[in-house]
Amino acid sequence: MTDPRPVLVVDLGAQYAQLIARRVREARVYSEIVAHDLSASEIAARRPAGIILSGGPSSVYEPDGPQVDPGLFELGVPVLGICYGHQLMSQALGGTVEATGQREYGATGLTLESSGGRLLQDLPSTDTVWMSHGDAVTRVPEGFRVIARTGAIPVAAMEDPERGMYAVQFHPEVTHTPNGQEVMKRFLYDGCGLLPDWTPSNIIEDSVERIREQVGDAEVLCALSGGVDSSVAALLVHKAIGDQLTCVFVDHGLNREGEPDQVEETFGRHFHIPLVHVKAEGRFLEKLSGVTDPESKRKIIGEEFIRVFEEVAREHTGAKFLVQGTLYPDVIESGSKTAANIKSHHNVGGLPEDIDFALVEPLRDLFKDEVRAVGSELGLPDEIVQRQPFPGPGLAVRIVGEVNAGNLAKVRGADHIVREEIKREGLEQDTWQAFCVLLADVQSVGVMGDGRTYENPVIVRAVTSEDAMTADWARLPEAVLDRISSRIIREVPGINRVAYDITSKPPGTIEWE
Ligand code: XMP
Repeated sequence: MTDPRPVLVVDLGAQYAQLIARRVREARVYSEIVAHDLSASEIAARRPAGIILSGGPSSVYEPDGPQVDPGLFELGVPVLGICYGHQLMSQALGGTVEATGQREYGATGLTLESSGGRLLQDLPSTDTVWMSHGDAVTRVPEGFRVIARTGAIPVAAMEDPERGMYAVQFHPEVTHTPNGQEVMKRFLYDGCGLLPDWTPSNIIEDSVERIREQVGDAEVLCALSGGVDSSVAALLVHKAIGDQLTCVFVDHGLNREGEPDQVEETFGRHFHIPLVHVKAEGRFLEKLSGVTDPESKRKIIGEEFIRVFEEVAREHTGAKFLVQGTLYPDVIESGSKTAANIKSHHNVGGLPEDIDFALVEPLRDLFKDEVRAVGSELGLPDEIVQRQPFPGPGLAVRIVGEVNAGNLAKVRGADHIVREEIKREGLEQDTWQAFCVLLADVQSVGVMGDGRTYENPVIVRAVTSEDAMTADWARLPEAVLDRISSRIIREVPGINRVAYDITSKPPGTIEWE
């Protein structure tokens, strides 16, 4: 299965495009997001197996509402229109769209007609779907039949299977439409005639082939962080080219308890990948000495990382390629014209600018959950595959104040306890992140045994989230909080107070710095 033909998701201005693309992947079909202003021939050049028109906030008859090239409907490629895409299809093919004054928003009752036709055949005769629209299709284009209605609108879904045209006013991609995935599958498997073959093992096979083609017999370097993306990228490249790959683990001394050992154990001893472990804690701490401004800390760590990496690279003069764990959402965010451009934090481990490497990006087409599935398939241990996000600058952003050996020991010790307790309770999957922040500049009075103490507080931070853009503080069980607090005070020297952060994001952020 080399270079699968994609299902193209045309982004019409809502954030739903990414969700649609993910649902298609969950049905084990390869999908890509494209801008709506591609011409029909540009679309055809990508050899799509199907096209999905996303929802969008506009009205199809507004002059600046996004349009698609009407030639797209003449390519002989099956099309599924969703919400705005449904109206666009109707308008382009001669139907009517109007503001009926019958807005529908939220969970809505759907009644099938014509037994749901081809597209909705798996739905019960009445079902619940998620709606969000003001306009509605009032007359279907010639050749179409109506396959569902609601109390408010006569055309909740329509199709013309002979021409390969399908459209729904509701949102099958959201979880609030419980049978939405059945609609996606019917379009993909019956409408487009696709097979569910976008599986981890096929992804690996394709990717291995492409990596071999790209790098030939050149030497390749990969900066490992211990996180899931760089780990999976490294394993894929190693599978493709074996010992032509050297992994570099720049140990800045800002990692959590046990992480450097885990990197050595997994990559060096278990997978036998040539690994350079640069123990550079001293260098980083020297540069960080006396620095308390958060952005300065990040900058120093980023720059020092590059310096260390350059030194290793100079010893590998034959290396022409550098592996990067870029994911598909990074590609969409920097490339799409209409998708909301949400910038995430820069990771430590950026490219040395003056070293001339070509990039190998084996995860460029993958969403995070696919990267995890590929990692598991490649035999990566669960502790890495399921690892919670951890900032590139590591524990440095979790010390409010100076990053030095003493403060690192405190925050690392407390963090270790939080993670142990969260794991013991099986709460790792329920929390997006759970960690500690050390207020190194604050001291408060405590009493321990016979004496008074004057030491630092730590803040325990645990949040639930889907994507880190928004987050809520996790309602951890009291008993867990209690155990975390008493263990930290008892086991971590220099900490005499534990507080729990109950701020959501927004207005707070997840990290403190
Ligand atoms: P905030 O604190 O902005 O964090 O709510 C959102 C997500 O980003 C992570 N984060 C970082 N990741 N380098 C990174 O690679 C950084 O400098 C950085 N700062 C925050 C944070 O852990 C959360 O998952």
